[in-house]
Amino acid sequence: MKVNKAEIVISAVAEAQYPGDNLPEVVLLGRSNVGKSTFVNTLIERRSLARTSQQPGKTQTMNFYQINDLFRFVDMPGYGYAKASKSERDKWGKMIEKYLRQRENVVMIFQLIDSRHEPSEDDFLMYEWLTYYELNPVIIGTKADKISRTNQKKSMNQIAKTLNLKNSREVILFSSETKLGKEESWKLIESVLK
Ligand code: GTP
Ligand code: MG
Repeated sequence: MKVNKAEIVISAVAEAQYPGDNLPEVVLLGRSNVGKSTFVNTLIERRSLARTSQQPGKTQTMNFYQINDLFRFVDMPGYGYAKASKSERDKWGKMIEKYLRQRENVVMIFQLIDSRHEPSEDDFLMYEWLTYYELNPVIIGTKADKISRTNQKKSMNQIAKTLNLKNSREVILFSSETKLGKEESWKLIESVLK
């Protein structure tokens, strides 16, 4: 998709702030620092619309980015952010769960997992929770430029195995550096917008 217009609509901290229209929403989920905000920037070819950082916990609000006035990316705070207080994590956990279960705008969920490591317990639990509610996510293995071709294959198998996916080809490897996975991700988004 050629992106002519990309703008932040709202950094929401409460449900009342979610946009009130019915534009489709594509959601980014994953651990802190996995590359959710970078994924958005890479797809829309804007280096810094979504704020990123080497420090985990950069995204602390639900950020709604409207693309071509056609759909929105919803960039979520990361889960498993150790420095956040338990009450803060609980608050976000509940808010995100409620959003995912009740928001009718949601047309696609990308769950991002760091391709360099085995999926964490949090990754597994998030995936289980999503599939339990039939919110089947597309699995993205991020930072693929940081591992060798051999390890890329291993990583896809490892992710598929840990999450009990039927086929390791269900995992899309992604890199903001080489743009691996960018076109495939766009194709999936375009397929649900039609
Ligand atoms: P939170 O907002 O804290 O939940 O993190 P996030 O998931 O939004 O991660 P973010 O996009 O801020 O990226 C974290 C760090 O990883 C940044 O330093 C990015 O530059 C880096 N990064 C993200 N994706 C890639 C990638 O594909 N390749 C490489 N080499 N680095 C990446
Ligand atoms: Mg972020």
